[in-house]
Amino acid sequence: MTETTLTRHRATTQRILIVDDEKLIRWSLMERFKQEGFEVTEAEEGRAALECFAPGEFALAVLDFRLPDMNGLQLLEKLKSIDPELNVIFMTAYGTVQNAVDAMKLGAHDYMIKPFDMDAMAHTVRKALDTAELLQEVTAFREQNKRRFGLHNIVFQSRLMHEIVDLVHRVAVSEAQTILVQGESGTGKGLVARALHYEGAKADKPFMNITCTALAETIMESELFGHEKGAFTDAKQQKKGLFELANGGTVFLDEIGDMPLNLQGKLLRFLEDRSFKRVGGTRDITVDVRIVAATNKDLGRAVDEGSFRGDLFYRLKVIPIDIPPLRERRADVPALIEHFVESFNRDFKKNVSGFTSEAFATLQAYPWPGNIRELRNTVERAVLLSVGDRLDMADLPLELRKGQVGSDGGRLLNLPDEGVVLEELERDLIVQALEQTRGNQTQAAKLLGINRDQIRYRMEKFKLQR
Ligand SMILES: Nc1ncnc2c1ncn2[C@@H]1O[C@H](COP(=O)(O)OP(=O)(O)OP(=O)(O)O)[C@@H](O)[C@H]1O
Ligand SMILES: [Mg+2]
Repeated sequence: MTETTLTRHRATTQRILIVDDEKLIRWSLMERFKQEGFEVTEAEEGRAALECFAPGEFALAVLDFRLPDMNGLQLLEKLKSIDPELNVIFMTAYGTVQNAVDAMKLGAHDYMIKPFDMDAMAHTVRKALDTAELLQEVTAFREQNKRRFGLHNIVFQSRLMHEIVDLVHRVAVSEAQTILVQGESGTGKGLVARALHYEGAKADKPFMNITCTALAETIMESELFGHEKGAFTDAKQQKKGLFELANGGTVFLDEIGDMPLNLQGKLLRFLEDRSFKRVGGTRDITVDVRIVAATNKDLGRAVDEGSFRGDLFYRLKVIPIDIPPLRERRADVPALIEHFVESFNRDFKKNVSGFTSEAFATLQAYPWPGNIRELRNTVERAVLLSVGDRLDMADLPLELRKGQVGSDGGRLLNLPDEGVVLEELERDLIVQALEQTRGNQTQAAKLLGINRDQIRYRMEKFKLQR
C-alpha cells in the first residue's frame, strides 16, 4: 500500500450515536465514550435518532432493542438505508439473544448483552471501528490495484494489438484456468498477466507472482506448494505456498521456461487436478486458482531440446496469448511515445511537448529489439535529461541515432499492420496531388517528385479525368 493514497485519515473526531430510552444507560455510555475521545449524540427513541442522523455523520451507532416508538431492527434498517457504511452495535437483554442474531443478519456489527461492563463495551466499539477501517483500506487497495493493473493500462493503436487486448478481455472474464502468455522480452507480458487477473471476476482475490528464473529448485518448490514443519532443516514452521495463498485468485508463473524439469512434473500434476501436498506433507490440498504462465522463450523449441516437458507445454497452451514484438506493430509507437512522455513529465515535473519530427521519425523507424521496455527507457532518459520543450536527436541514445540514414529519419511512411495495395496508394496520392493543385498537372507532378509526362502516363493508367 502506498503512503499517499492509503494513510489513515481521521481528520475529525468520530461521532457515536446512542439510542436508548433509559436515561442512566445513555448517560454512562456517553461519559465513557467521551472519555475515549469520541463525540456523542444521544436519542431516547427511534424518531429522534432519525432526525439527527445523516449519511457520513456518524461512525457508529449503539442501539437498544426495545425503543418506545419502534423496535431496534426497524431502526437499524432505516439507519442503514440512509448510511450503508454505518457500524451498529446492539444492546439486548439476556434471553433475547435471537434478536441480536437477527440484527447481525441485517448488518449489525456486534451485540452486547445487558447488563454489560463499560470496558467491554468500549472494547467492542474499538474493535468494530478498527475492523471497518481495515475493510475500507482493503477496498481502497483493491480499487487502486484495479486501476493500476486493468486493461486500460495497455496502450495501443495497432489493429494487431487491438485484437490482443480484446482477447485478453474475453479470457479474463471467462472461466479459463490456465493461460500461456508468450512474447519477446519487454513486450508487456507482465502487464497482460495482471490485466487477466484484475479484469476478471476474481479481481478481489489475491494475485501472486513468482519468477521461475530467480530461485533454486527446492526453494521454488516450497514457495509454490508450501511446506510442513520439519520438512527440511530450515523448515521451522509450517508455511503455505502461493497456490494456497492465492486460492480463489491467480498465480502468475513468470519465465516458466526456466522452471527446473523436476518441478515441471509437479506443476503438471497440480494443473491436472488442482490439488497438491505441501512439501513434507501427506494431506491433499485442493485449491481454485487461475494459472497464468509467461515466457519469452520458444517453448516449442525448448521441448525439442529437452529442457521443457512436452506434456506441460500442451497443458499450458490451451489458451495461448501471443504478444507480437513492437517492430511488428509500429502503429503503436506514437501512442506509446505520447503515453510515456506524459507519464515521465508527471514523474520528473517536466513539461516536454514531444519529439521533433526528425527524432520522432527515428523512433518510429528503429526496430526496438528490447520492445516497449526499451522504448519506455528511451523516453524516460530523454525526458529526464531534456533542456528544451521538444526532444531532439541529441536526446536519443547513440544506438538509435547510428541506425540513421540521411536526415529524413529513415522511413518515409510506415507500412500499416494490415498492409497496403501499392497501386491504390499510388492512385490515391496522384488524386490528392491533383486536388491540392486544383488539377495543375505540372505542380502535381512536382509534389510527387515526377515530371509531367510521368504524371500523364499514370493518369491514363488509372483512368483519371484530366
Ligand atoms: N502496451 C503497453 N502500454 C503501456 N506500457 C507497456 C505496454 N507494454 C509494455 N509496457 C511497459 O513496458 C515495460 C515492460 O513490460 P513487461 O514487464 O510487461 O514486459 P515483459 O514482456 O514481461 O518482459 P520480460 O520478458 O522482460 O519480463 C513495463 O514497464 C510495462 O508497463
Ligand atoms: Mg515480465
